[in-house]
Amino acid sequence: MSQAQIIDGKVTAERLRAEVAKEVAALKAQHGLQPGLAVVLVGEDPASQVYVRSKGEHSKAAGMHSVTHRLPADVSEDELLGLVRQLNADPAIHGILVQLPLPKGLDEKAIIETIDPNKDVDGLHVVNAGRLAQGLPSLVPCTPLGCMTMLRETLGDLSGKRAVVIGRSVLVGKPVAQLLLQADCTVTVAHSRTQDLAAVCREADILVAAVGRPQMVKADWIKPGATVIDVGINRVPFRDPVKAAEGKTKLVGDVAYKEALAVAGHITPVPGGVGLMTVACLLQNTVTAAKRIAGVA
Ligand code: GUN
Repeated sequence: MSQAQIIDGKVTAERLRAEVAKEVAALKAQHGLQPGLAVVLVGEDPASQVYVRSKGEHSKAAGMHSVTHRLPADVSEDELLGLVRQLNADPAIHGILVQLPLPKGLDEKAIIETIDPNKDVDGLHVVNAGRLAQGLPSLVPCTPLGCMTMLRETLGDLSGKRAVVIGRSVLVGKPVAQLLLQADCTVTVAHSRTQDLAAVCREADILVAAVGRPQMVKADWIKPGATVIDVGINRVPFRDPVKAAEGKTKLVGDVAYKEALAVAGHITPVPGGVGLMTVACLLQNTVTAAKRIAGVA
């Protein structure tokens, strides 16, 4: 039986981070410009703490100016908005990321919309979503950017391919669909109300799963030879009853990976796939923002 080629997120992310580091060095040498990233963490969500630490470490390793603001979970919305405004005005900062989810009581939307769209390296501000929808230069959410980098590295030109995106979130589904459209794919966005989802997915040359439902996409949903990008990061109990009883969990994607390997042409693993690209794309977005703000081509 043929076996899909694995799209290795670790290798691709390392390459992208190395390219970013080179560009940061060139910006410093040629323009005296050091891209600066500010990450804001509110509260003590353990997963968010891990992500934020990684963002800080990788931005420093790439030679950027990097600051992390840690605020208590009971911070007032006014105080958080004040910090965002202060970062908007700070010339050393070109990218601002407020780690989500925020603790209850804080209005995520109000906070995101307060970020200067030119510094919104998460690409979540409505101005960036609108620019993306109109095909104008924008800051694009990091995970969709990572998906596109992997697809281009794997397939080259995407023009004319049938792409199906499962999921319509603001963070992934909608922007990835826009990017696929810009790359001249024929795009279908499927979701929880889609009828005969399996048949829709079977039409896809490119299948992007971003629903957050563990191992939902089965082998017989995949067209033989298709490229499968699994954005899901789902924590599930082990099937082994001993490990499950110890409360141990493992990460799985939205795709039933083992069975999908026998059908797909290329596939991203979980862990080790798209997830690793997100931080690298954040660094890339910070460089893009810094160059635009400084007027450097
Ligand atoms: N939490 C999980 N993913 C993300 C992301 O891409 N951006 C932000 N700000 N928070 C997240």
